Amino acid sequence: MHPERGPSGELSGRYVRRVISYPDPPLVAETVVLRRWDRRDLSFVCKASADAELLAGTTLPDPFTEDAGLAFIERQWNRVERGEGISLAIEERGADVAVGCTTLMLRRVEVADLGYWLVHDARGRGIGKANVELVVPWGSARTLHRGDRSVRPF
Ligand SMILES: CC(C)(COP(=O)(O)OP(=O)(O)OC[C@H]1O[C@@H](n2cnc3c(N)ncnc32)[C@H](O)[C@@H]1OP(=O)(O)O)[C@@H](O)C(=O)NCCC(=O)NCCS
Repeated sequence: MHPERGPSGELSGRYVRRVISYPDPPLVAETVVLRRWDRRDLSFVCKASADAELLAGTTLPDPFTEDAGLAFIERQWNRVERGEGISLAIEERGADVAVGCTTLMLRRVEVADLGYWLVHDARGRGIGKANVELVVPWGSARTLHRGDRSVRPF
């Protein structure tokens, strides 16, 4: 029996269970590192949560509290743990702090949805492009038949 699909091929109310594991070692390019979220990213989550544009398209806490920030980080871990996809922190290489978020979500059959965002002061330096160049070939080799870019709740 085939699962029920919506108009874009999504499985209603379910995720398409294709396991993605964390990249080991982390994905590294000249300017960018993609890695598992860490509790030390709390101050980054606080900073990102002050940006109304990011609040509108993500599940960043509004208002930010320490508990809500930690819950955001735990939701990112849940992506892998629950087989929903993967969420990685984007770091500018050498900076040792997160500057953004990139996700591959497995909501639809044979499609992984790629989403990403950066805090404002990290934009315009090629980090977004470097992130896509890193994550797309890595994700394609593991999950994708076709990739879609879109803005969705992260
Ligand atoms: C989209 C986003 C990640 C771009 O990050 P960035 O590091 O500033 O982008 P880059 O510097 O790598 O630029 C990559 C290219 O995209 C273009 N670009 C960047 N932001 C753009 C925007 N908002 N609209 C149109 N083009 C844009 C750049 O001009 C560049 O083009 P080029 O290679 O021809 O010069 C960042 O603006 C962001 O976080 N936006 C909010 C979230 C969002 O919209 N995410 C979209 C994907 S889900």
